[in-house]
Amino acid sequence: MPRIRVEVDGATYEDDVEPRLLLVHYLRERLGKVGTPVGCDTTNCGACTVLLDGLSVKSCSVLAVQADGRDVTTIEGLGAGGPHPLQRAFHEEHGLQCGFCTPGMIMSALDLLRENPDPSDEEIREGLEGNLCRCTGYQNIVRSVRRAAGDMRRPAQEPEVAS
Ligand code: FES
Ligand code: FES
Repeated sequence: MPRIRVEVDGATYEDDVEPRLLLVHYLRERLGKVGTPVGCDTTNCGACTVLLDGLSVKSCSVLAVQADGRDVTTIEGLGAGGPHPLQRAFHEEHGLQCGFCTPGMIMSALDLLRENPDPSDEEIREGLEGNLCRCTGYQNIVRSVRRAAGDMRRPAQEPEVAS
């Protein structure tokens, strides 16, 4: 069985894994990172999205062995130091309904905002088109990402101006 060494949410793990083991199952079943859900297992829904070396991937489309020597960030790592602006924005703008798609939405949005810190609504929709919400509440998701983008662009020391 191949042995992998992978950094997940800031901790290093070494494990023997079946060559066919998917990254999402490694994260959930071996590491207990159950914040990354499996929605479809067929690379359609995006619920399982994580960052691999900073880029978003659907972790049901990646083998655990492909993560060897690489860096993985899950939704649990994102919130480890207190809520991330995207997590706060999803809460405040009601971007989550049942919440099943939310981890994947947030991880994809993070990658989108890294590339484009000031996206239009159209660009947000395009950036999240690989993530499906079975509750179909896309309007609030777009609003959440827009709000987080603004929060992330604003320097931490700049006081908020009431609107
Ligand atoms: S579980 Fe990976 S895309 Fe649906
Ligand atoms: S909030 Fe329910 S699947 Fe998106």
